[in-house]
Amino acid sequence: MAAFSSMHCPPSYSSSIYGGKDQSFISSASPRFSVPAKAKVFVQSPGNSHQNAVLMQDGAVATKVSLVGKETHIEKLERDLMSITSLKEWDEKAGSDINENESTVSITVVGASGDLAKKKIFPALFALYYEGCLPKHFTIYGYARSKMTDAELRSMVSKTLTCRIDKMENCGEKMDEFLKRCFYHSGQYDSEENFARLDEKLKEHEGGRVSNRLFYLSIPPNIFINATKCASTSASSGNGWTRVIVEKPFGRDSESSAALTKALKQYLNEDQIFRIDHYLGKELVENLSVLRFSNLIFEPLWSRRYIRNVQLIFSEDFGTEGRGGYFDHYGIIRDIMQNHLLQILALFAMETPISLDAEDIRNEKVKVLRSMRPLRLEDVVIGQYKSHTKGGVTYPGYTDDKTVPKDSLTPTFAAAALFIDNARWDGVPFLMKAGKALNNKRAEIRVQFRHVPGNLYNRKFGTDLDQATNELVIRVQPDEAIYLKINNKVPGLGMRLDRSNLNLHYAARYSKEIPDAYERLLLDAIEGERRLFIRSDELDAAWSLFTPVLAELEEKKIIPEYYPYGSRGPVGAHYLAARYNVRWGDLGVEQSV
Ligand code: NDP
Ligand code: BG6
Repeated sequence: MAAFSSMHCPPSYSSSIYGGKDQSFISSASPRFSVPAKAKVFVQSPGNSHQNAVLMQDGAVATKVSLVGKETHIEKLERDLMSITSLKEWDEKAGSDINENESTVSITVVGASGDLAKKKIFPALFALYYEGCLPKHFTIYGYARSKMTDAELRSMVSKTLTCRIDKMENCGEKMDEFLKRCFYHSGQYDSEENFARLDEKLKEHEGGRVSNRLFYLSIPPNIFINATKCASTSASSGNGWTRVIVEKPFGRDSESSAALTKALKQYLNEDQIFRIDHYLGKELVENLSVLRFSNLIFEPLWSRRYIRNVQLIFSEDFGTEGRGGYFDHYGIIRDIMQNHLLQILALFAMETPISLDAEDIRNEKVKVLRSMRPLRLEDVVIGQYKSHTKGGVTYPGYTDDKTVPKDSLTPTFAAAALFIDNARWDGVPFLMKAGKALNNKRAEIRVQFRHVPGNLYNRKFGTDLDQATNELVIRVQPDEAIYLKINNKVPGLGMRLDRSNLNLHYAARYSKEIPDAYERLLLDAIEGERRLFIRSDELDAAWSLFTPVLAELEEKKIIPEYYPYGSRGPVGAHYLAARYNVRWGDLGVEQSV
């Protein structure tokens, strides 16, 4: 609910949540940089002769770290500040007393040495810090088996941090401040002892305050359970909340997903588990409900009466290079359709929830998923990309990846026709299409409306009425936009019609940079807002839909249709759509927005 009207850490966030139900943090957002008088100490920067103070988000004051001679931020950080080992020490240095009634949030990124942590999690945490959205007292710990010092983690993390392009103010300082709050602990994922040592370190940082702990499991799924067990038994909070963000994949079918949920629930309650589907954190996905429920013109059209078909399209213009090992075990249906596209479908098709509370929204989504007609093998097309040479460059085929078996039948492309057997959507095809190594990168929702009955202008469109039907396109990425294709008279004395777009192009309309999905989701997890996380019954329903067809594909060893790297994908997807009188909207002549 709190997040509904928000752009970034809105006031409601900071007032309600950081302490969960019964604890409250002092908001860092409002006022963003308030500093207790007693904390105002100025630290002389060794490299500069002038006083060079930076007010930190937690009210402390630090030296401004700027380039001194040839020294980089990181080198200087290492020299000046690496001696700081705890928040308590930090506070003492800054001259502030510790108020034991205040809360802290400790965020442990488990698998901190990995790709996702570097690419998404640390940058998102920094963006939240930059926006003043993290609570006053927070500490970030990286945890992984790799041996690293705090300084090495900071150095690694610093390479992927970027500042908001629309701000860039004090960017270097902010990064330095943020990095000083990042620490590293090396340990095994199945060692209670190693997690107990982490617990001791976290306690030092928490300095006797109410401790709230968030663990982000950014590790391969086969170690989720061990890590959860150790975190929960040896490093959970004694007096605040403990939450665990679990990355996908949540199993690979109904059975393994149920087993994972059961195992996690040995150590955590459902309300401590935050199953992340980062597509739910994307701006345009978040906007779906706003578009539909706050505009009178859309909701009445949102049914079989006016909508002919809905298309959910995901494509990437690169292959699985580097992730082949993971991907071959899952395939595109599990990687994209069963989660990202199905979640969008559920949000798109759900009935009006009673309120914007997480449970009300998730109740409606789960009803949609449970109303879905079992997916039949004949309604699924699969493909796999093969090597292709273009412009003198040879792009590898899927099985050219050394981590992929040469005879792999794993689909890198799939299209499916799904149906929701309820009163609103009876008979409306929901077509999904997802693929790697295609001709472009995009994610979009296309809503094709019915033909206008008795259209006076039919003659102007010839026999191809599809060309004249309205289409609403919600382009999730890249270059976010919502546009509605309408028919319009070309100005002039004649009567010539063309198709034009009523266009909400985000870059033109909003100057603010769109936050990354991980920012929103991390903030929600810190706040205990579950609306954008997957509940276990939603997950069960999602797996129930796809498990039988996945089993059939694998048992029957269905051979995927091969398509060249960089192409539009298998032609079978067109035949599938045509069977339901649908034409893929993304393959038509697109009027640019
Ligand atoms: P990585 O393969 O990079 O693994 C993360 C860390 O886990 C590694 O740095 C390594 O740390 C440790 N690790 C890797 N393999 C093993 C193993 N076999 N046994 C024990 N530890 C291991 O994963 P990603 O960062 O790519 O992804 C993390 C999670 O997020 C996964 O569940 C993935 O499916 C999911 N995900 C990833 C996305 C991405 O874009 N990368 C996108 C969406 C979801 P160390 O050796 O230091 O312990
Ligand atoms: C992940 C998939 O969940 O989403 C990846 O595992 C895919 O295969 C990624 O590349 C796409 O995310 P985004 O945000 O880049 O569209």
